[in-house]
Amino acid sequence: MDLLSNKWIVNLLVCCLFIGVGCNSVEKKIYVHLNYTVPCVRLLNATHQIGCQSHLSGNVGVLHVLESEENVDWVLRSGPNPPYLVILESPLFTRSIMMKLKNGSSRVAGVAVVAPSANPLEGVSPHTTCPNENTGVYTENYDPSLAHCNVTVWNPLGSGLSYEQFDFPIFSLKDDNDTQVIRQCYMDHNRAVNGSTPQYPLCAMQLYSHMSAVTDTATCMRRNDINFSISPEMVCDPLGDYNVWASTRPINNTAKGHKMWESVVIAAARLDSRSFFFEVAPGAESGVSGFVTLLAAAHALRNATQEAPPNRTILYTFFQGETFDYIGSSRMVYDMQNNNFAVDLDNVHSVLEIGQVCIVRKLIESLQTAAKGLNVSVNEPGFSQPLPPSSFQRFLRARPIPGVVIEDHQSAFTNRFYESMYDNAEYLNISYPPNLTPEEQLVFVTDTAKALTEVATVVARALYIQAGGAESQLEGINADPQIVTRMLYGFLIRSNNSWFQQRIPPDFMSHLTDRPTNFYVGVAQQRSELTHLVQYLLANLTGSTANISQDNCQNQREDEKDKESKHMYSYVWVQGAAPPNSTKREGFCVRSTVRLSKALSPAFDLRDYTSKNYSTWTESRWKSIKGRIFLVASHDLEVNFPFTPQRQHMECRFNLHLWNRKIPNCVCVYI
Ligand SMILES: *[C@@H]1O[C@H](CO)[C@@H](O)[C@H](O)[C@H]1NC(C)=O
Ligand SMILES: *[C@@H]1O[C@H](CO)[C@@H](O)[C@H](O)[C@H]1NC(C)=O
Ligand SMILES: *[C@@H]1O[C@H](CO)[C@@H](O)[C@H](O)[C@H]1NC(C)=O
Ligand SMILES: *[C@@H]1O[C@H](CO)[C@@H](O)[C@H](O)[C@H]1NC(C)=O
Ligand SMILES: *[C@@H]1O[C@H](CO)[C@@H](O)[C@H](O)[C@H]1NC(C)=O
Ligand SMILES: *[C@@H]1O[C@H](CO)[C@@H](O)[C@H](O)[C@H]1NC(C)=O
Ligand SMILES: *[C@@H]1O[C@H](CO)[C@@H](O)[C@H](O)[C@H]1NC(C)=O
Ligand SMILES: *[C@@H]1O[C@H](CO)[C@@H](O)[C@H](O)[C@H]1NC(C)=O
Ligand SMILES: *[C@@H]1O[C@H](CO)[C@@H](O)[C@H](O)[C@H]1NC(C)=O
Ligand SMILES: *[C@@H]1O[C@H](CO)[C@@H](O)[C@H](O)[C@H]1NC(C)=O
Ligand SMILES: *[C@@H]1O[C@H](CO)[C@@H](O)[C@H](O)[C@H]1NC(C)=O
Ligand SMILES: *[C@@H]1O[C@H](CO)[C@@H](O)[C@H](O)[C@H]1NC(C)=O
Repeated sequence: MDLLSNKWIVNLLVCCLFIGVGCNSVEKKIYVHLNYTVPCVRLLNATHQIGCQSHLSGNVGVLHVLESEENVDWVLRSGPNPPYLVILESPLFTRSIMMKLKNGSSRVAGVAVVAPSANPLEGVSPHTTCPNENTGVYTENYDPSLAHCNVTVWNPLGSGLSYEQFDFPIFSLKDDNDTQVIRQCYMDHNRAVNGSTPQYPLCAMQLYSHMSAVTDTATCMRRNDINFSISPEMVCDPLGDYNVWASTRPINNTAKGHKMWESVVIAAARLDSRSFFFEVAPGAESGVSGFVTLLAAAHALRNATQEAPPNRTILYTFFQGETFDYIGSSRMVYDMQNNNFAVDLDNVHSVLEIGQVCIVRKLIESLQTAAKGLNVSVNEPGFSQPLPPSSFQRFLRARPIPGVVIEDHQSAFTNRFYESMYDNAEYLNISYPPNLTPEEQLVFVTDTAKALTEVATVVARALYIQAGGAESQLEGINADPQIVTRMLYGFLIRSNNSWFQQRIPPDFMSHLTDRPTNFYVGVAQQRSELTHLVQYLLANLTGSTANISQDNCQNQREDEKDKESKHMYSYVWVQGAAPPNSTKREGFCVRSTVRLSKALSPAFDLRDYTSKNYSTWTESRWKSIKGRIFLVASHDLEVNFPFTPQRQHMECRFNLHLWNRKIPNCVCVYI
């Protein structure tokens, strides 16, 4: 059984129960959909646990809406009814306030942060100032003067909050009617007016987010192992997913290891991102700008690489889990070193990586200069100039391979919202004239799309030259702004759109949503929607349509007798579009070189859970994540927390639909 489905089912059951019994049996109902309410969960590495959790039976506290930083004193010292459940408007969700609350955690039951509907003006990043500082190329043994961002602090705005550990639950609430009800409940019952002490009944909130794993990855993996035979109850899972790759020439993917005549130029980008809260990872500049550019460049190169193939093969790679100590790239390098990938490190000629590329004006100028001179600097890495955090660092850790990393910043990131919930479409200025339908927005070419198209063209030309292609072909290599436009829309606004629909298998339809794609990597047993989407789009953009029956296509063969093609190609049956005179889609088969490869840290294969070399990140399991507000009549009621308070005037239960939001929205009831 899929180990993950456990928590899935539990949540689903709870959810249905609340809709079916809790909600429908009451007289006066106010239904509120809590669509974007999410917790912070616990993650663990070799030495630490980070994130949040509640007690097994949830944390209860009297609501307190924090009005200013000075007001923290009420929570930590003067307020008469601790513990408090603190409601924070997002400008107050700062390191300073959170560390004070953390220090006073005996009086703090939990925190609920109201997410704003528009991005803040000031930059905010809950990430560290020096991303992946322990697992890049610079270490105590190798160029220590560049280690730990000694020369360049890449993310100066980083507060490090995402890497702190809290003993109480922290949830994010979308600013909508629900939060209005919560504020009203506070105003009516809890607010100290003119210095008076608020009297019972008081408005209280309970948050559940109990986490099974504690201490660190070694501890939780040991618990997974020991008890597996007795009770197969896992407590944590390695983070991970699958990398997506494709090559401009078919490579026998069954024959692993060195290929005598193959010389490959790796063109890389990363897929994943994160933020403080679980599965809130819009990653617009940090991830999407780079991988959409690479997808568009791969498409721009399709004709030239087929009609005038350069002598080196271009290998497009999209890495998963890079945010958590380079999971995907470290795994690919490890597989290459162990003859477990289609080519090995000796085959790698050079690496070209696309990082954050959205703030592009200067970047284009310098790239164009480089492309005109046709010698995109592929020198030995200059050791006096530190490389930004990048997958390329994992190749350099293995051996000195030449390469370039393309970014929109020279020293510190230009991204003001790195690994935060604000690194979204709004931040990239992707906006539309009013009154456009979704399908009109899908095809509306924004300035951002135009700029990224230019980057993609320059990248594609540079790759072609890099692979040994002829200069005479360059004019014909052009990225398509229409395609960049649709991809940005699909990943940042709504994956459920006609352009994506035509490029996916029929059974993937239910995974498209009316929201931005989530770029949190998740746990390694599952392939995320993102991985699949990139796989299908890359196949469509680099492959060819094959006149093959659905049955043969799904069995990875050209015809009944064919046993060889599957080594060289992969086949996907996609649903296509419906012709104008019909409503029935006309599916077809796409033949491509697109493959998935494991993005699970080698530390878990090696069972080296304290590895200093490889990512050791795991995610704790949990049974349920939910919350509610109600009135408590006296202090006594809180001691033995009432699941059914005796004098319950108002109750709101909210369940979170997680796991890529497959579960229908739950409803919230006020009695
Ligand atoms: C939540 O989702 C429901 C159904 O998908 C929708 O009708 C409602 O408007 C959404 N609410 C908010 C606040 O976005
Ligand atoms: C933590 O709280 C203690 C009292 O509980 C206080 O003395 C100390 O200064 C606090 N530390 C910080 C960093 O706020
Ligand atoms: C940091 O870099 C400076 C020079 O750039 C060097 O003098 C110093 O020793 C470095 N610090 C460490 C800890 O390596
Ligand atoms: C684990 O994570 C913590 C918090 O970010 C960090 O301080 C520590 O160095 C990490 N441990 C390893 C071995 O990387
Ligand atoms: C929020 O409240 C307003 C006014 O009470 C109402 O018109 C609106 O439909 C509510 N929205 C949702 C999503 O419930
Ligand atoms: C609080 O005090 C102000 C002025 O002192 C007064 O106008 C107001 O009515 C008082 N509010 C309550 C609820 O007593
Ligand atoms: C795991 O098994 C050990 C003994 O094998 C037992 O003492 C422990 O309570 C078990 N833990 C869990 C969580 O089941
Ligand atoms: C690919 O490699 C496998 C394993 O070495 C081999 O059996 C197969 O014949 C090869 N196919 C082609 C087309 O080279
Ligand atoms: C590729 O070539 C075909 C025909 O040779 C042409 O129709 C198509 O526009 C070209 N595509 C690109 C991206 O250049
Ligand atoms: C690539 O092809 C060109 C001719 O198109 C040839 O001159 C060159 O030697 C080849 N390079 C390699 C590495 O095979
Ligand atoms: C990509 O998808 C579109 C829409 O279904 C289709 O027209 C096109 O032929 C596909 N390309 C390939 C190579 O399959
Ligand atoms: C739809 O139109 C195409 C050409 O315009 C025709 O070949 C096809 O038979 C028509 N299909 C139906 C179901 O009418």
